[in-house]
Amino acid sequence: MLKWQTRIACNTVKSFVPFQNRIRSIKHSFKPPALTGHHEALVRGILEQIEFIGTTGTSVSGARVLEIGSGWLPVAPLIYRLAGAREVVLTDQYRLLNRPSVLSAVDFVISKADAIAPALGIDPASIAGRLAIPREGDLPEMLAALDFTYLVPMDEGNIGEKLDIAYSHTVLEHIPPQILGSIFKMLRNNMRNGAIFCNGIDNSDHRKNYDSALSIVDFLKYSEASWKLLCIHPQDYTNRLRHSDYLALLAEAGFEVLDARTYVAEGRKAEVAGWSLPPRFASKTTEDLCTTWSLILARA
Ligand SMILES: C[S@@+](CC[C@H](N)C(=O)[O-])C[C@H]1O[C@@H](n2cnc3c(N)ncnc32)[C@H](O)[C@@H]1O
Repeated sequence: MLKWQTRIACNTVKSFVPFQNRIRSIKHSFKPPALTGHHEALVRGILEQIEFIGTTGTSVSGARVLEIGSGWLPVAPLIYRLAGAREVVLTDQYRLLNRPSVLSAVDFVISKADAIAPALGIDPASIAGRLAIPREGDLPEMLAALDFTYLVPMDEGNIGEKLDIAYSHTVLEHIPPQILGSIFKMLRNNMRNGAIFCNGIDNSDHRKNYDSALSIVDFLKYSEASWKLLCIHPQDYTNRLRHSDYLALLAEAGFEVLDARTYVAEGRKAEVAGWSLPPRFASKTTEDLCTTWSLILARA
């Protein structure tokens, strides 16, 4: 069996074990998920988002900000706080945060002070003080000290005061297209006119993260039915939307796309042009199919 097949087979079996989320939550309350290369890249990605948002004339300073899909380790919201956000609303489909995960993220961000401070124009020595939390306190006390609101799940009625900024990082590709359309519309209704929506999206085949032998766009070859079978465990699900699909969904939800920065896997274009692709990809350009990273800036 290839590496990715072994991993997907194990995950598929796991997905039939009842109380998966509860078991994971108990495990993480003892030991938070490890900080990895993903979090190093996340720091760079969020600093780029804040710089990109700045090009619109909107400042994070004083803004009410919402994150879609905060995950286990709230590294990104801590950086938005350091950039001056007055409140960050963290959202997810499940409750994943706990005391050890918040402590671990805070310590990680403090350890990155030398990279973060110059990008945000703040004093590196001030970072530990700005992120001071009651280390012996409970989760609500820690969240309150950071001006974080934790909304799980978010819905039309619980977002509260209109948002100035919303963002995500490596989340949208895990959300089914129909749900994504509803989330965009819900956010649009809860953002003030002119508010900024910034999303970093990993459009690549995520199986490459654990099987380097695969092409970064290998998943385009599968029919809908076959791909569905490889995504039975929710953590394996990716929607395979392409850059152009996100632009269309944003426009449909009432956002104006202002700018985008993309990474195109140029080296894969010839290979993809030779594949027989399922109908949903047939009309896409090879540029779009091989766009493996999108950072999209939109205005409400
Ligand atoms: C790969 S993690 C990324 C976490 C974090 N943004 C980061 O970059 O480290 C994807 C996150 O999206 C969340 N997610 C998936 N589907 C979602 C949905 N429909 N609504 C909100 N969050 C969702 C997952 O629970 C998970 O926390």
